[in-house]
Amino acid sequence: MAPDATPWWRDATVYQVYPRSFQDSDGDGVGDLEGIRRRLPYLAWLGVDAVWLSPIYTSPMADFGYDISDHCDVDPLFGTLADFDRLVAEAHSLGLKLLLDYVPNHTSDRHPWFEDARAGGAHRDWYLWRDGTAERPPNNWLSSFGGPAWTWDEQAGAWYYHAYLAEQPDLNWRNPEVRSAMAGVARFWLERGADGFRIDALRQAMKDDQWRDNPPNPDWRQGDDPYHALLQEFSADRPEVAEVVAVLRDAAEAAHAADGRERLLIGELYLPVERLMAYYGYGIDLPFNFHLLQTPWRAADVGALVETYEAALPDGAWPNWVLSNHDRPRVATRVGPGQARAAAVLLLTLRGTPTLYYGDELGMPDADIAPEQVQDPWGLRDPAHGRDRARTPMPWDDSPHAGFCDAGARPWLPLSDDAATRHVARQREDPDSILMLHRDLLALRRAEPALTAGAYRTVALEGDVLAYLRGERVLVALNLGEAPGEVRLPGLSATVALGTARGRAGQRIAGGAVLGGGEALVARLDHS
Ligand code: NOJ
Ligand code: MG
Repeated sequence: MAPDATPWWRDATVYQVYPRSFQDSDGDGVGDLEGIRRRLPYLAWLGVDAVWLSPIYTSPMADFGYDISDHCDVDPLFGTLADFDRLVAEAHSLGLKLLLDYVPNHTSDRHPWFEDARAGGAHRDWYLWRDGTAERPPNNWLSSFGGPAWTWDEQAGAWYYHAYLAEQPDLNWRNPEVRSAMAGVARFWLERGADGFRIDALRQAMKDDQWRDNPPNPDWRQGDDPYHALLQEFSADRPEVAEVVAVLRDAAEAAHAADGRERLLIGELYLPVERLMAYYGYGIDLPFNFHLLQTPWRAADVGALVETYEAALPDGAWPNWVLSNHDRPRVATRVGPGQARAAAVLLLTLRGTPTLYYGDELGMPDADIAPEQVQDPWGLRDPAHGRDRARTPMPWDDSPHAGFCDAGARPWLPLSDDAATRHVARQREDPDSILMLHRDLLALRRAEPALTAGAYRTVALEGDVLAYLRGERVLVALNLGEAPGEVRLPGLSATVALGTARGRAGQRIAGGAVLGGGEALVARLDHS
């Protein structure tokens, strides 16, 4: 790459597909690779640039694919390697990149490596074992899904560590054999055409080498998630995580050198803003910025977050934004249906690379999941944390099961209640739909580079209204409240390019504007 060329992912919008729920093609009620392939033209039409697939590898599905038993094959539920090859070829022919999920922290307990380790074989030191007695775990570390992070293994006569389920034993990345095996996994998929990885649970991939107890969290209150009763000081975000990133960076650079296609590394990192920044230095292109998921939906809070994040970015680091994913409530539910359009405008007009979660472009809400329908292992342990509600099938049209699967099939999770009316086919025909808003915003991003790369500057924060400039060309104003709000914009005059109230396009703005509740607009400044 010429030194001044911009990597493709800086101008890109990433679209996350949860493969089980996008499109079923074989009548088993579970989405699959062939289903995704058939829907690629939709994604090209929508105007996203890269598709990230949650795990598609061979798995007992204790955590729906985040428990891998063969890293170099496709689970039969999703298809075959040949299906993958067709999918990646077709994505590329449509101008779409394909990103895979890479899970370094753990494998399935049914992975041959772990089965051998447990039996005392050559892979023993590929996992994290501690001696002791069955009565007392080696330290106080907790599993993200509840309970201790240690399981006593009768066969091995020792404890093993798992940051997630007991079915997901953590790998020992201090072992050079693990590094080289996992580097091989990365190369396998990059050489097969993947354009990069979203790296799962990255902050946890290295742990304290002395296994020190985690300290109590002084801010934790009775009734909060017990996992947060301790600070993850020794079990996450250790400086040695940089060594894991280096292995992946090398694989990405080798693939780039071999075929000239630049690869993207995204890190899944739930960390404070200042800690996220370290991961740019480690070699992650986009340390996922999840802060919008956690920030109250108020203009002052969102505005402060953007300022803090922008100010924290190291030189040359590229920002990114996320509103939903398969682990969290959907944005339309979290901010409320009256705010979903403003949320779309925010996501697609902040500086940096946005990631859009499948279905959010329809304003899809979280679904109601009856107790007997729960699938998620976390939800089974603790209903408050159930993630199924944000993982329900994509509604495509008005046929049975909204076109997700054949009429005679039974979808693995129920569709959301409004799927019969909230679906792609209907919204495509409706210029006022939230789907068309997303499409128009994505088209505007392409037409107006200031929206991707132009400097961010807050120009007003008044009540519920946040307004900012992108470069010297574009003004964005959002009313994050339910009531109409006025914003003063002294000295600014602009023409609306696109608004959540579609009739506003073409209107003039001079010195200020009144926005309805939940209204947002993007306007081109006059002088530019
Ligand atoms: C984060 C993933 O996003 C989540 O779905 C999964 O359960 C855990 N990592 C464990 O892999
Ligand atoms: Mg299927």
